[in-house]
Order: sequence, then structure tokens, then C-alpha cells
Amino acid sequence: MSNTTENSSPALSNLLSEARSFPPSEEFAAQANATAALAREADERGEEFWADQARKMLSWHTPFTQTLDWSRAPVARWFADGTLNAAYNALDRHVKAGRGKRVAIHFEGEPGDTRTVTYDDLLTEVSRAANALQALGVQTGDRVIIYLPMLVESVVAMLACARIGAPHSVVFGGFSAEALRSRIEDAGARVIITADGGYRRGAPFALKPAVDEAIATLNPDNHPGISHVLVVQRTGQEVEWHDERDLWWHEAMESADIRHEPTFVEAEHPLFILYTSGTTGRPKGILHTTGGYLTQAAFTHWAVFDLKAETDVYWCTADIGWITGHSYVVYGPLINGATQVIYEGTPDTPHRGRWWEIVQKYKVSILYTAPTAIRTYMKWGEEVPDQFDLTSLRLLGSVGEPINPEAWMWYRRVIGGGSTPVVDTWWQTETGAIMISPLPGVTAAKPGSAQSPLPGIAVDVVDDDANSVPAGGGGYLVVSKPWPAMLRGIWGDLDRFKETYWSRFKNIYFAGDGAKRDDDGDIWLLGRVDDVMNVSGHRLSTTEIESSLVAHDAVAEAAVVGAADETTGQAVVAFVILRGEFAAAAQDDEGAAAIQEQLRTHVARQIGPIAKPRRILIVPELPKTRSGKIMRRLLRDVAENRTVGDATTLADSSVMALIKGKLG
Ligand code: PRX
Repeated sequence: MSNTTENSSPALSNLLSEARSFPPSEEFAAQANATAALAREADERGEEFWADQARKMLSWHTPFTQTLDWSRAPVARWFADGTLNAAYNALDRHVKAGRGKRVAIHFEGEPGDTRTVTYDDLLTEVSRAANALQALGVQTGDRVIIYLPMLVESVVAMLACARIGAPHSVVFGGFSAEALRSRIEDAGARVIITADGGYRRGAPFALKPAVDEAIATLNPDNHPGISHVLVVQRTGQEVEWHDERDLWWHEAMESADIRHEPTFVEAEHPLFILYTSGTTGRPKGILHTTGGYLTQAAFTHWAVFDLKAETDVYWCTADIGWITGHSYVVYGPLINGATQVIYEGTPDTPHRGRWWEIVQKYKVSILYTAPTAIRTYMKWGEEVPDQFDLTSLRLLGSVGEPINPEAWMWYRRVIGGGSTPVVDTWWQTETGAIMISPLPGVTAAKPGSAQSPLPGIAVDVVDDDANSVPAGGGGYLVVSKPWPAMLRGIWGDLDRFKETYWSRFKNIYFAGDGAKRDDDGDIWLLGRVDDVMNVSGHRLSTTEIESSLVAHDAVAEAAVVGAADETTGQAVVAFVILRGEFAAAAQDDEGAAAIQEQLRTHVARQIGPIAKPRRILIVPELPKTRSGKIMRRLLRDVAENRTVGDATTLADSSVMALIKGKLG
């Protein structure tokens, strides 16, 4: 871990001396929400800056009198004596203030069906759903699993849980039955909200069978069983039905009252658990609570995206299965009373211009997406977006992985008409909300750099001994002071929480990312320094995929690396040593191809299609140090077709020659 730049691509390292600078236009700066004065205020007010934002952004049922309690570090308590409700803040507040007729969601289904949902409508639906959940026995504190495609119902389900104080745990629809099972068990959830299926790439896909399978495979020693499954009817496909536990969502909603009194909870009441990959095989249930999380989600959504709720049309392309969907589709935008677009499907269905058609149709003014999508569009050519009127766009955002300067420039020029600010936002599931980003009306933007911490956030780049590195230096990214949206723990595992984030350095949060400071003091993110990969902005654990591979009969040993990929940032490449008979069968090309395909399908089944290795290389040995640690750096050299680097610490220095020889 001492070489933090190991994970960064050479191309990115060369570009850290980026000289191009794009200050905001005078017009933009003059109307911007976040100003230089705000940053000064944050410096002066310290923690109280966040108390100011908590009062400004949210409506409190019981006003808080305490700001931060760090006495039980590293578990922070923010605004702890206040009470509030997340759904009340997202909906009732706007309706009470006469904003009920405002469109909350323009829903665009992949097949072309649409729905317009106002704040009034959303409040009614969420109230019904909250009543329906309570009728099923869900109580404050009970965990509810949500396993849905991108639908209006997904937002309704999350807010209905929040309304009764039942923490939700959304599982991305692309995850497998097995991944779902382990999350149900870990969260101890007894109710699941799902759908028959959804639409993707022009065809319906099924979700319900994965739920049935997950429930059938629950370990009775770990879990008391699922009491109810609420099923949204999206595609109308046949589903297997279990009368004793399955209910149609629309039927439960029809019979539920349209009025519901929200449950006001303490600020530190759990709002949700979201599982994310760590460095071990087991995903971590990241716990977020209510008051601090909502404060920072709403504040950053207002400050970074410069939201003008009356006039903007906002679109974040993330799925609700990820943290970006939680903070910047559900909580941030709705608390701020935004009008937003939700799109169910893929960018190239039925044609490659679908996203830009949506921007044109709804006059989207703020777009928030991931570098992988931008690079995909670059590959498809600018003639695709050029066919649409994108002049409504006034701000563009990026998240999930480092954005290379070329992609940044293309995004601004082709999508933003050469004039919109581009904000590269760094944050994590654990941080809950944006931490590092330019302020669009203040910062002179620099392509490829996330630049500086937001007002009220203390970020540093440090060396092995926790000393700040000087301008021009590189090291580890840390957060040196508690922040409102910080995770409050790993569900059920306080020790792992301390060990993962708080043991590398004393009293400061270790993010797991490498970073550099350039000569202007701007921060450049260089990718993970641990065994976490980033594929298309999605976090995957090398260890989790390795565990999955070795669970297959054919595999004796496996090592997984994230190899640089032009479009997806990184791609999963696996090196496997096969067991005897399988090794024999893989001697010829056909036999090898069959086993490689079997293994890829196996990983997709165990974890989900996103974890499927791009390439599986069958090798006779793996490079290990004398203490038995696999040297992934050398495997990455092979996977990226580079000359293999320094191999002198290998227990057996001939191994790399053997691997290279075998792969030709
Ligand atoms: O490595 C960083 C990368 O994504 C990781 C967090 O992943 P996740 O929890 O899934 O959340 C993604 C969406 C917030 C980080 O540790 N990352 C995220 N945003 C950026 C980034 N790397 C570089 N630049 C970014 N803007």
C-alpha cells in the first residue's frame, strides 16, 4: 500500500499538470447559489455552519440544540436531540407551502410509456404505501429490502419506509439471488418490495424469480423468514405466486388510506443501510441516519448543482440501487423541491440518442452522470447528440470514478455547448454526500480534477505517517473532521467499521483512494489503493470475485485485478489455476473457452452480471511474495499488456515467465 500511485493510469498521471482553466461565466457566477462568501462563512462558523444548513434545508419537528457529539468517535452524532421525518421533508413540506402542483418526477419508461407525478401525487402514493407497509406489520426500526428497477414506485417505496421510520436497504436490480439472500440475512429484513420485472435493452427482464430463490435459500439459523413480498406489476410477465406471503403492490395500495401521519424520529435514527463492496469477500452494510445525512444531501444538491427549484429540470442517471440514486435522485432533489427526470432503461434503446432525446423532450437543465457513460457516448460519436437540441442544459456533473481530461472536455463541448460548468464530484457510499467538487459559480474548473473540498468539509492528502503532502505531492485521501452525512457504522459490525476506516490513521477517516495535490493545491483522485475495483463507476471487490471463482469446482486458485479500460475505467480480469481434470480439459482452445465461459456465468450468477470477468486467463501459477501475498501489480501489467514490472520480491521469480509463456 505504500505506492499510492500504483493504481493510476500513466495517462492520467501525465495530465495532472493540466493547464486549461474554465472560470464560470459572469452570468453564471452572478446567479449562483454557492458563492465565495459561503465558503468563508463555513471557515468562520466551523461545525455551526452545518447547524445553519440543517435549519435552512430541513424542517424539524423538534428543533435540535446540539450540533455535533464526537465523544463516541468514530460514531458521530449530529443534531441528536432534534426530531424530523425524511418523507415529510421531501413531500409534505412542499405541499403545505403550496408547491403540490409542481412536477416532482417526469418518468420515462424504456418502452416509451411516461408518467408525470406532482408533489401532491407523490405524497398521496407515499402515504398509501406507508399505510400498506404498516398494515403488513412493518414497524419503526424494522428493515425493508427494496429490489426494484428504476420506477416511480422505487422512490415511493423508499419514502414510504422513511415515513414510518423503517430503514430501507435497496439492493440493485442487477444483483443476483445469492447477493440478495446475503443482504436479506445481514439486514434481518422480513419484508421485501420488488417487481415482476422491468425493461432493459428493449426486452422485459424478470426480478421476482431472484426474490423467490433468495427466500428459498435463506439459512433458517440466521434468519426467521420473510413474512411478506410486495410485488409491483411492471411488465405483466408470469410470476410464481406464494399466496401466504406475496401481495400485488397495486392491490395493497388501492385499499390503503391516502392520509398518513409521518413518524417523527430522532436525528440519529437509521434511514437506510446500503451494501457496498469492501476489501474482503463480504459486502458491508453502510449505515446512514436521518438528520445529518439529509442536511448534507440537500445542501450539496443545492450548492453543487446550483438548483433553482422553480425553473430547473434535473436529471441524475444513477439507479436507486447505488448511493448516487439515494442522495441525488431521492433525498437531495425531493427535499429541495426539484423537478426531475427518471429513466428506466439503457442509453441505446431503441437508439443511441435516447438520453439526448430525453434531455430535449423535458428540457433538462442539470445533468449528473458517470464518466463511463460519457466515454461510451464519445465512442459512439458526437453526431449522435448533435441531432438533438441540448441548449436547455446549464450545468453538468460527473461522479463515480476519475474523469479523464479528454472526457471532461468532450462533455463540456459536445453536451454542454462549450459553456456549461462541469462539476466533477468525489464522494462514496460511506460519505453519504458529495465531499470534493468545484463550486460551479466560484471555482475556475480544471478538466480532470475534483479540485477542492466543499464548504464545511475537511479533506487532506497525507503520506504514510499522516502528514499533509505539499503541493505537487501524492498520498492517501483522508477526511480529517466529522461531517454530517458520514456513515454511522457498518450494520452489525462496529469492529469492522473501526478497522476499515479508522485504523490506518488515528482519528481521521481513511477513504481508500489515492490522491495528488497539484501545484495550485487542487486535488486529483487516482483510484483505489486497496483491493476494490471500479468498473463503470460501480464498486467491486477483487476478493469477492476471487471467492466466487474458487467456489467453482474447476478452480484451485484465483486472482482478480482491475485492468485499465478505455470505456469502463477498469475491467475485471481474472487469473485462474484449474484443478487437475479441468486443467486437462482446458489444454485445447475449445476446452479452455468452454471453461472460461462457465466461470464467467458462474460469477454472474453468484454476484451479478456487473461482476462478470471481462477476461479469464488460465495460468499454471500465480505470482506470490514469500509471505504468500498475491502480487496483483504484476498481474495488472499482464492484463494491460505492459512489460512486467519489478518482480524481485516474488518467492519464485520464474513464475512471471511461466505465466507470460502460457499466455503467449
Ligand atoms: O474511488 C472513488 C470513486 O468511487 C469510490 C466510491 O464508490 P461508491 O461508494 O460506489 O460511490 C460512487 C458514487 C459516489 C471512491 O472511493 N469515485 C467516486 N467519485 C469519484 C471517484 N473517483 C474519482 N473521481 C470522482 N469524482
